[in-house]
Parts: sequence; structure tokens; C-alpha cells
Amino acid sequence: MLRTHTCGQLRAENVGEKVTLCGWVDSYRDHGGGLFVDLRDRYGKTQVVFSPESGAEVQGQSRAIRNEDVIKVIGRIDLRPEGTVNSKLPTGEIEIRVESIEILNKCKTPPFFPNQQDQPNEDLRLANRFLDLRGNKMQETLVLRSRIIKLMRDYFEKHDFIDVETPILGRSTPEGARDYLVPSRVHHGTFYALPQSPQLYKQIMMIAGYDRYVQVARCFRDEDLRADRQPEFTQLDMEMSFVEMDDIIGMIDGLVEISAKEIHGQEVKLPLPRMTYAEALERFGHDAPDLRFGMELIDCTDLAAEAEFRVFKSVADAGNKVRGIIAKGAASKYSRRLIDNMTKFVQEDFGAKGLAWFKVEEGMKLSSPIAKNFSDELLAKFAERFDAEPGDLILMVADKYEVTCKALYALRKKLGAELELYDPKEMHYSWITEFPMFDYDEDEDRWNAMHHPFTAPLPEDIEKLDTAPHECRAIAYDLVINGSEAGGGTIRIHDSEVQEKVFGLLGMEKEEAQEKFGFLLDALQYGAPPHGGIALGIDRWVMLFGGLDNIRDCIAFPKTQKAADLMTKAPGSVDRKQLEELALKVMRLDEKRV
Ligand code: AMO
Ligand code: AMP
Repeated sequence: MLRTHTCGQLRAENVGEKVTLCGWVDSYRDHGGGLFVDLRDRYGKTQVVFSPESGAEVQGQSRAIRNEDVIKVIGRIDLRPEGTVNSKLPTGEIEIRVESIEILNKCKTPPFFPNQQDQPNEDLRLANRFLDLRGNKMQETLVLRSRIIKLMRDYFEKHDFIDVETPILGRSTPEGARDYLVPSRVHHGTFYALPQSPQLYKQIMMIAGYDRYVQVARCFRDEDLRADRQPEFTQLDMEMSFVEMDDIIGMIDGLVEISAKEIHGQEVKLPLPRMTYAEALERFGHDAPDLRFGMELIDCTDLAAEAEFRVFKSVADAGNKVRGIIAKGAASKYSRRLIDNMTKFVQEDFGAKGLAWFKVEEGMKLSSPIAKNFSDELLAKFAERFDAEPGDLILMVADKYEVTCKALYALRKKLGAELELYDPKEMHYSWITEFPMFDYDEDEDRWNAMHHPFTAPLPEDIEKLDTAPHECRAIAYDLVINGSEAGGGTIRIHDSEVQEKVFGLLGMEKEEAQEKFGFLLDALQYGAPPHGGIALGIDRWVMLFGGLDNIRDCIAFPKTQKAADLMTKAPGSVDRKQLEELALKVMRLDEKRV
């Protein structure tokens, strides 16, 4: 070892010892009599002093030191003089009096410093990730990530799961996103698909008798990226045989309990609360609601039907919905201009046609430009429905059910944050169950599997596969943490006939199903146990447990919103020879005609 200790290790009891430390120059201060350097590594910082006692030569060498240089110092540990102890640093009682120094590597003037006060813009951080990763926050997050993964691995090992690696070069698994393709050199014109998840392999493992599988699995999905999505991300993927939904949920409940305890020292009451998909949409407008605060959606379609107000009446008469939320005490916080902005927000981003609102004044009078279209009795009924009090703000959207869900969900989320209705440090865990089997894809005019096509229907809904597929519910469950989908899984179909029927409903002809998933349909006829599982989004767990709001800060080498790695400059072009070997030709977009 080039060093005897790390920069976070030394304490008063080490006084008098001769030590060697290596690290980065975090800062340096020339106090005339001596140079004080804060030497940093991932364990902490230690004060290093070059004084006249160090000798003229060493002092001379020390003058060349600049921030972010990597140096090695040998010296003796001393107590800091009275009045100079830094109680904020674990090493703050001591300093090293340097006897010799070696500059191991100079640092050119960097584009930014790792812990500088104002964060540089993200592109600059990502392009110079080697500097950015030196920052305390990134190091803390990657340590947390490593702890979470270890905790998960230990937990599943304790429960007899075995870790099995599955291929990266495989065939497409339909998880609903676009595939990343890899051309084959050996079979020209054919492609591997990178796995969107190990879904089919883990099911095959169950059929092969490995009744408890787990894997920290890398998944690849070419989809539009958001703050909580990456094209390449990591799942804690698991599968179990001879189980029902409650067994899988119970297993993950146990993991949540241990994680909350280990990471936040928090006691979580089990079982975690559950809510059906239909209830989540009715009460919160979304299948991953943030349950840290109330502000539930309130239906007032029946009252709207009584109104003179054309917008409300026509929507109610057409069988659509008028729903709203109430922001307690918020009337004075939102001026007309701010409400106009909210209106634009729900119109432009969530397809609402408008936003109707009332401010509740003293004496329970409801004021709004639209109030004149309502009788006093009807206004009183609205106030009662929303349980309103003076000072409250009521916001309503009249539209198709789905639009009221989307718009009010977004508004609730925005207001919850703006009005600080919850403690951002608080963690809330819950399950959403009974998702629909299928959702309708308007662009493609066909049914899609809401989770994936291997999901089993609820036994009581199985007949609906033939009669009313849109009403058919799945044995599917999502883990929701603070309004984020932190995991999702299902009990699987273990009967080849049901599986074929579901493929058929998804518009897959028998031959196509055989071609794509023949191995699964076959395997399901050779002794398939009932099975089910779940995958947890590890990057999202780190984000949620670390209190971060950007998934890129949870990954050592993430991609930008445009799916690029700014440090290595991937994706990049390849040379002609590589393309020729693959029998590929790059077309310009205007040539794209097949
Ligand atoms: P699903 O598609 O719901 O299920 O994914 C499971 C969990 O993975 C996380 N996740 C993502 N995280 C970051 N970036 C992404 N692009 C991304 N996409 C998903 C989410 C999500 O809840 N094979 C099934 C699991 C199963 O049925 O067992 C699957 O992949 O936290
Ligand atoms: P209009 O009659 O379109 O001028 O709308 C009058 C008021 O009702 C405006 O404040 C609109 O924002 C609101 N509004 C219009 N359409 C809707 C709707 N579908 N849901 C809720 N409010 C609406």
C-alpha cells in the first residue's frame, strides 16, 4: 500500500504516529508561516501542514500544490493548536506535520471543482464524470447504492433464492418499449435484442425447477427518457414457484422493512397498505399516487349536471366527469395570474380543456368568474361536497374520466410540493393491485398488455378474456414509494392455452406467437409450476432512499435525456470494415424507404 491510513481515519489517539496519506488536494491556504492543505479521499478529509519544521526543501515543494493534485505525504500526527479544532470533521482534532511530500499527479485547471458551491451544468458534469464523481454527494450516493444492492442480495440469499445470470444477447421480450438491437455478424440480416428484462428466462428457470430465482439484472429499453427513466437501468429481478400474490408481496414487504430500518432507522408497519388500481384512479387520478398527503379527487358530476354552466352541464350530460381537488387555505396564495398559469399547465401538458375554480371567502361565499352561472344553493352544495372552509381554493376539471385523472393528478402533485403538504424526508410505501390486463392503444388501434403478455388474469375474470377483455383484471401488483413506481410484478400464466389466448387478444396470430414465443408455449406443456415474481427498479430505490430527484445522480455513468454518454461519446460511429462484416449500410433518413 502506498498509504498507511485513509483521509478519514486518524483521531487524537493516533497523536505521535508517523503516517503516510495519499489523496486529492481539496483546498490549500497559505498562512505565511505555513501551508495548510485539506487532503481528501472518499473516506474524509485530513489537515496537512507544511511549516518551517518541514524543512526548506519540503516547503519549497509544497508551493507547487494546486487543488485536485494527487499527493502523498509522510508525517507525524499532532493535536491541532487550541482554538483551531474543527468539530465538524471527524479528523478535526488532529493534523499531520509533513516531513516529505511527493506529487503523484498534477491536475490541470479543471472545468469545475467537485464540491464547488454552484453546481456546474449537467452536461459539463457528465462530460467530465471523473471529476464529478469525486464530489461528496455522488460518492455518498454510490455508497448508498452499493449498500442497497448488498442488502437485497443478503436478504434473498437468506430466503434461499439463487442468483442466476441470464443472457444480454437474446431475443426481444415484450415489456412495451422499443428494443436495442445488435446485428449478428454470423447470420447477416438478423439481430439480437438486448433484454428489456429477464422476464422469459426467469419463467423458464421456474419451469426448470429452480423455485427461487434472483438477479441484479441490467435492462435496456429504447424509450423516451424522463427524470426517473434511463435507457439502461438495473432491476432486482426475482421469481418464485408455488406461490400466490400475497407470498410475493409478503417477501418484498420484508425487504422494505429491512431497508427502511437499515437505511433510515425507520420502523415500517407491515403489511404495507394496499389499494386497487380502480381505487387509486378514483381517489388520486393515478396508479402510483403519492400518499404522503391527502387532497383526494372529489367527484361532483351530479352537482355539475344541475348547473346552468354550459361547460359543466354538457360534460355531465355526455356521461363524462366533473372532478376536483381542494387546496386548504391556499386561496390567498394563488393570484389570478398563478391560476391562469395552472390552467395553461393542465391544458398544454395534460389535455384538459380548462380549469374551473372557486375561492372560498369569509361567510362561505364562493367567488370565481364562473360563479354567476350557479345558484347560491348549488354553490353551497359544491362547498359542502369539498368540505370547504373560508380561505380554501377549489379546482375542477370537466372532461372524460381519463383526462380528469391525468390533469388533477398533475395538479395535486404540483400543489402538494408547492404548498409543502408533506415532509420530503418522509417515506411512504404501498401496493397497488388489480390492474387491468389490457389497455387500449389509440394510435395503433389495438389492445396492449398493461404489464406484459405473460400476466395471469384474476381467476374470477378469466371468462372475460372471451367476453369483455377490457374489464379483465390481472394478478398484478406495483410497489409505490412516495408516488413513484418502485417495482412491479405479476403472477404468470402457467397454462399454454390461456397464454395462447392472451397472445391472440394482443393481435398475435398463432404462427407469430409460435415463431416468437414457441419455446415458452412448449415449456408450458412440460410441467410448468404456478409461478410469479416482481422486479424492483434499483436506480429508483437509490433515488427514493437517497432523497434525490434525478435518476442520473444515482448511476455512475448515466445517459443524457437524449440517450448519450457525454464522457465516452457513445453512441459513436464505427468504421466501414465493421459495417461490412455485419453486412450493414447506413442510410440517411431521406433514403428511409424499404
Ligand atoms: P417493469 O417493466 O414494471 O416490470 O419494471 C420493473 C421496475 O423497473 C423500474 N424501471 C425503470 N427504471 C429506470 N429506468 C427505466 N427505463 C425503467 N423501466 C422500469 C421500475 C419498475 O417498477 N419483467 C417485469 C417484472 C416482472 O413482471 O417480474 C418488468 O420488467 O421501478
Ligand atoms: P369558457 O366558457 O370556455 O370560456 O370557459 C369558462 C371557464 O371555464 C374558464 O375559466 C375555463 O378555464 C373553464 N373551463 C372550460 N372548459 C373547462 C373544462 N372542461 N373543465 C373545467 N373548466 C373548464
